[in-house]
Order: sequence, then C-alpha cells, then structure tokens
Amino acid sequence: MTHPKPTATTAFPPHFLWGAATAPYQIEGAWNEDGKGESNWDWRAHHTSQVKGGATGDVAVDHYHRWTEDVSLMQQLGLNAYRFGIAWSRVQPHGTGAWNPKGLAFYDRLIDALLLAGITPLITLCHYDIPQALVERGGWINRDMTQWFADYAGAMARRYGDRVRWWATLNEPICIADGFVPAPDDPKDMAAVQHHLLLAHGRGVQAIHAADPALKVGLVTCLWPAHALLGAGPTAITAKAGERLQFAGASGERSGNFTPEDAVEAARQADVAINRAFLDPIYLGRYPTDILNAPVQRPIQEGDLATIGTRPDFMGINYYSRVVAAPLRKPDGAISWRWVGPAERGAPHTTMGWEIYPEGLREIILSVHRDYGAPEILITENGIAQEDQVDIHGRIQDTYRSEYLKSHLEQIGLALADGAQVRGYCAWSLLDNLEWDMGWGQRFGLIYVDYKTLNRTIKDSGRWYRDLIASQLKASHD
Ligand code: FCB
Repeated sequence: MTHPKPTATTAFPPHFLWGAATAPYQIEGAWNEDGKGESNWDWRAHHTSQVKGGATGDVAVDHYHRWTEDVSLMQQLGLNAYRFGIAWSRVQPHGTGAWNPKGLAFYDRLIDALLLAGITPLITLCHYDIPQALVERGGWINRDMTQWFADYAGAMARRYGDRVRWWATLNEPICIADGFVPAPDDPKDMAAVQHHLLLAHGRGVQAIHAADPALKVGLVTCLWPAHALLGAGPTAITAKAGERLQFAGASGERSGNFTPEDAVEAARQADVAINRAFLDPIYLGRYPTDILNAPVQRPIQEGDLATIGTRPDFMGINYYSRVVAAPLRKPDGAISWRWVGPAERGAPHTTMGWEIYPEGLREIILSVHRDYGAPEILITENGIAQEDQVDIHGRIQDTYRSEYLKSHLEQIGLALADGAQVRGYCAWSLLDNLEWDMGWGQRFGLIYVDYKTLNRTIKDSGRWYRDLIASQLKASHD
C-alpha cells in the first residue's frame, strides 16, 4: 500500500492553519475529578442505554491526565493549530454560579502549552455537552439558557481571550437539537430548542466581542450539500438542489410516482433543513420561509433575529459527506424528503455509513462564499472512520485515511482558487476517541489509541499529514 505523495495540488496561503480537532467529552475523561460537575453526556452514558456497548466518557482517552503527551504528539505532527472544546461543566459545575478554579486552571495550562509549542488554539464553547444542572432547568427548551450560555461565553473570553483569538460558540446546533435528552415529546419544545440554540450563538458572539472586539467568533455547522436522486441504483443521476434539470428526457419523466422536479424539491428541502436553517438566520437575519411556514412555530421574540444575525467573524464548517434526497409524498399530497444512504445506492462509504464524496466540500464552501457575502471559513472537521488494524510491527497502515484527507484538501485548494476565504483546516480527529452514541467502534484519529492501555501511536496518515504540513509551511516561507 502506498500513501499519496504529501503534496496537494495547490500551495495553500501563508498563515493557513493546519490543525486537528477534538471535543472534550470524547477525549478528556476525569468526568467527576477536581470539582467537575456532571454533564448531560455523563448523565446520558450513565442513565440511558443510548450509548452503544454501555460506553462512557468517564475515562474516555484520558486526555485530562495525558494532555502534555498529547501536545507533544501535536508537535510531532507539526500542527500549527488545535481545535478543542471547553467542558462547561468542568469550569462551572452547575452552569450558573460558582466557577471551578481547578477546571479553569486545566485549560490555562493547556492553552499555555499550546502557545509555547507554536500551536494556535481554537476553542469551541459547547461541543454538545452542557452541565446537567441546566438540563434539569429545561436546558435548551428554556429561553434563559441563551443568557446562561452568553454569560459563560463572555467569562471564557475574559479568562482566555488574552491568549486565544479563535472562538466557536456551538458545535453543530442541528446535532445538539437532535441529541437533546430527554427528547422533547412536544414538537413546540423542539422548535424552542432549535431557536434558542441560534439565539445563544448570537448572544455568545456579542458577549465575546464585548470582552474583546478583536476576538474572532463563529459558529460550527455540519454542512452537507444536498443532491436529488433521480432514478434508482448505483448509477442513478444526482442533481444539486435548485439545479435546472438538463438531462436528456429527464424532465417530466417519472420514477415511481415522482417526477424529477419532485426529486429536486426533496433536495431543496434537505438543503434548507440541514444547511440553510442555520446559515440564513446567521448571515441574512431571517429564517427560510419553509421554517416560518412550518406547522410548529419557533418562539421568536422581537429582536431575536437581529441578535442571531450578528455577523460572525468566520464560519466553521464540519464536512463529512453529502445528503442524497429522494421525494416522499405526505398525506396531503405535498412533497417531503428522505435521506438515501450510500449503502442503498452502492456508493463508497465509511464505517459511519457516510458517503465518501470530496467534491461536496468545494461545493459547500463555494455556496457559503457566494450566498453569504464571502465570509472567512475554517474547516473545523473533516475525516474518516475505518476499522484500523495494528500490524505486527505496531504500525497502522491507513492509506484510506491519507487518501481521504488528500482528496478533500484538493477540493479546498480548488475553492481557494475560486476565491473562497478558507483560513484553516482541522482534521477530525487528533486521536481515536469515543464517538458519542456509537461508542468505541469508530476510529477517526490521526493517532491510534489502544483503548485498554491508552497508549498512543501515530498512524501512517498522521505521518502523511505531518509531511504535507511541513512541505506547505516550507513552501510558504521560501
Ligand atoms: C461530528 C462531531 C464530532 C465527531 C464527528 C465524527 O458531527 O462534531 O464530535 O463525532 O462528527
């Protein structure tokens, strides 16, 4: 097996951030040490059967105790950026009220060590986890949560803003809403969760800028370009949402009970639900009409959209795949959509069941660039889970991961050439880690973690990434 050459087709701009990402619950462990409070994810792992195999983040990959080793591994990879999250429950156990000095000091130490190693820290304030005490007060259903979050965001910016320039408010609000436990029975509560997440983001941006207007604040969303499925089987044609149908004979031709126009409408709806439901309010200060016309209304109060529409300094994009949508017919005859997974289409995919589709990264970057006023963009996550094997020499020959990263970086190169303002790239993930409800089965790391011994080994893909970064940084200095 040969790895792709450590070159991308493009020379990336000088000062490009070459990073890797993690999230606190997935790596830290020490779930109740040094004054940390219980988080919603601690509670979920301990009290529900939702996490596969009964896995928990109690120890996770023990980053809380092994962080010096992890920073040194980042140096070995030559990273000049590291995206990590603060566990709110570690710094403020109940989400309001008293702060935990030991928790605050942990992130001080980490930040200082990163800076000493020449690694730019990028902080995410809520990567799904919140203090369980706030869930007990309604969590994201409760509008007060938006203020609690903003207070926390402002406090973190005041504490670390002298050393940390890049801040993300929330990671993937769509997933925070979907993973909310207990899942609200009442659809009105879900609409409230969705709205409050965006409002919390907007208030968070304002609170961080109030601490220091020079800080760069953004939201991290997982964006999936939405394509329409036209026909059946592996060779079925897909069309981009909104694309005019130009296939010979396609228009008006029926597939089952649906026309190609129905399929394109399904993709448009998927695009709204997954991407534009977040991008439109943030950049345009308004919800898409599909959301405004939905049967269940979001609890929007006067001024909310102006707050949500506070222009962020960057957009964080997590990119893994595209969504291929097929039409469904609702009882009233209207079209809705369903996600047609790659297994069903015979398309290449990862162990997460996500299609490998690098072109979608350029497409989504360009759509953000074009439709929302050329914002600065950080690719905050991108990576592949596969069943890595350790060979008899202790090596992990994960060519598929290098290929995956290379093909996606090439798409970023093309987007840069098209004028998009991409400032950095973080591979997901630095380390193999706990994949939320999927437990321990999904290895995404550039670094292999033996979950029994917690020993770390840089995979071949990590070396490949190291060489790529080195050649890019050298080129930008020459
Ligand atoms: C993203 C999450 C991240 C990780 C990857 C695989 O949606 O932000 O924590 O689980 O998926």
